Amino acid sequence: MAKKIKKIGVMTSGGDSPGMNAAIRAVVRACAYHNIDCIGIYRGFDGVIEGDFKPMNARSVKGIINKGGTILKSARSDEFRTKEGRKKAHESLTKAGIDALVTIGGDGTFTGALILNKEYGFPVMGIPGTIDNDIFGTTNTLGYDTALNTVVEAIDKIRDTASSHNRLFFVEVMGRDAGHIALNTGVGAGAEEILIPEEDLGLDRLLESLNRSKKSGKSSSIVVVAEGDKIGKNVFELKDYVEEHMSYYDVRVSVLGHMQRGGSPSCFDRVLASRMGVKAVESLLEGKSNFMVGLQNNTMELTPLEQAIKGKSAINLELLRVSDIMTT
Ligand code: F6P
Repeated sequence: MAKKIKKIGVMTSGGDSPGMNAAIRAVVRACAYHNIDCIGIYRGFDGVIEGDFKPMNARSVKGIINKGGTILKSARSDEFRTKEGRKKAHESLTKAGIDALVTIGGDGTFTGALILNKEYGFPVMGIPGTIDNDIFGTTNTLGYDTALNTVVEAIDKIRDTASSHNRLFFVEVMGRDAGHIALNTGVGAGAEEILIPEEDLGLDRLLESLNRSKKSGKSSSIVVVAEGDKIGKNVFELKDYVEEHMSYYDVRVSVLGHMQRGGSPSCFDRVLASRMGVKAVESLLEGKSNFMVGLQNNTMELTPLEQAIKGKSAINLELLRVSDIMTT
C-alpha cells in the first residue's frame, strides 16, 4: 500500500508566470485544510537538492494572490539533470520527511518530476504554469490569460504611435515554440498579419497582405510575430525585408520581451490557480501520482505527466481565418 501522505513540498521551476503565487497559496491552504504539513521549496530543483526548504502555513501565503512572479523563486537546474543530483534531491526530501511534491512549471519541470518518480517512486503532481500555453491536457496554463491581456494592452499603445505616424509595426511576442499568444493577441488587437511557429505563411503572402491593406486605404498596420515563427527571418530582418520591397512603408519593430511574463495575475488566472492547487493536493491525498492537473471543459482533469510532456497543445487554426476576415 502507498505510504500515507503527511507532508507535501511545493515548488516552482522554469520560467515564472503570473498566477504561480496564487497556485502556491492554494497548495499551502489546501494542505492546511486537510491537516497536513506543507513545505515551500525555494529555487526549483536546485532547492530540492540543497534542502532549501521552509515550512509554510495558511498565513505564510497571505497577500500573494495578486502578485506576479513566484515567492519561491525559480531556476533551471543543471545538477538535477544528473543521476547524482537526483540522488541528493531524494535524500534531502527524505531527510525533511516530505512525502510528495507539487511542481508548478512547464514541460521541463514535469520531466524532472517524472524522472524523480521513475527512479525513486516519489509521488509527484504537476500544475502547468507558463505564459506560452503550450502544454497538452489543459485549455489554459497559468499566466497565459494575464499575458494575453498584457500584450493586447501594449499593442493598443503601440497602435497610437502607428496611426499617428502612418507606420507599420512588427511586434514580437513570446512563444518560442507556440503561437498561442501571437494568434490570440493578434486577433484581439486587430493585427494585419499574425506570424506563428505552427504555420509558415511565407514572405510573399506577407507582402501581398501588406500591399492589399495599403491599397484598401489603411495608413498604418500592426503585424504580430511570435518569437519562434517559421518564416525564416527574425523580426528585425523582417523589417529590412519589407522596407526593401515596399519603400513607402515607414517600419518599426517593438519586441515586448519579459514584460509579458510579469504583473498581477488576471482574475481568470487566480481562480484557475486556486482550483489547480486544490486538485493537486487532493489528488495526491487520494494516492494518485504522475499526473498534471488541467482545465478541460471547465472541469479539473488529470493528464498523465508523460502525455502532458509529449503531447502538443494544438493552436486554434480557425482564428487565422477569423483574422483574415477581420483584415478585409
Ligand atoms: O516561459 C516560456 C518563455 O516565455 C518563452 O516564450 C521564451 O522564449 C522564454 O520563456 C524566455 O525565457 P528566459 O527567461 O529564460 O529568457
